[in-house]
Amino acid sequence: MAFALDKVVPWGRSYEEYVRMFNLTERELEGRILGCGDGPASFNAEATQRGHSVISCDPIYQFTAAEIAQRIDEAYQQVIDQLGKNTEDYVWDLMPTPEAVGQTRMAAMRRFLDDFPRGVKEGRYVDASLPYLPFQDKEFDLALCSHFLFLYTEQLSQEFHLDSIIELCRVATEVRIFPLLNLGVNISAYVAPVTAALEQRGGRVEFRRVPYEFQKGAHTAMYIVS
Ligand SMILES: C[S@@+](CC[C@H](N)C(=O)[O-])C[C@H]1O[C@@H](n2cnc3c(N)ncnc32)[C@H](O)[C@@H]1O
Repeated sequence: MAFALDKVVPWGRSYEEYVRMFNLTERELEGRILGCGDGPASFNAEATQRGHSVISCDPIYQFTAAEIAQRIDEAYQQVIDQLGKNTEDYVWDLMPTPEAVGQTRMAAMRRFLDDFPRGVKEGRYVDASLPYLPFQDKEFDLALCSHFLFLYTEQLSQEFHLDSIIELCRVATEVRIFPLLNLGVNISAYVAPVTAALEQRGGRVEFRRVPYEFQKGAHTAMYIVS
């Protein structure tokens, strides 16, 4: 997936953001969780510190912490500039300026970078790429995918999306994906055909509003049980 890796920005959110994006309950957080495409998010680091069981997988984990830090630094100004140019596409209630977003995200990513070497040794950060995951059938209660599937609709095919979600369903009892918008802040054209294909295979697909909205209109997660 070198193509996706080049096109996808290494940018990470916090535990608190994951809890809201996926509307995670305390009970759900007690289960075995896979974060797929977690990149430099601090979800794993913070969840582990709270005693939860989280494994993250991402092709970026083939790199060292120093190499990932360099990629983050390279992406930082580009992301902040894009936010500044498209302010009308975002909700600025919790983080009022692009710089405030940058500070919050950098704090999460530093937390990830501090945890990464230890997490690799503990098997919590696994170098793996959709659509193939090195995990057993139903090894996880919940698989979460934040800001990768559907967001990169222009870069990744519909077939890649369907194969990836089928793979996530293989390794987890339930799969949640957020957001359902592409980078152009429109609902991804893949949502309807992928939903139909999953339902045809016997999956149950639901769309639930979650208590998180930064990209305007991105407030709904896809829940899949198969
Ligand atoms: C925009 S970041 C989102 C990071 C994190 N999930 C969050 O929301 O804060 C997208 C992540 O997708 C990862 N990625 C790229 N190709 C992938 C693939 N084939 N399978 C899984 N993850 C992939 C990238 O390395 C990157 O870390």
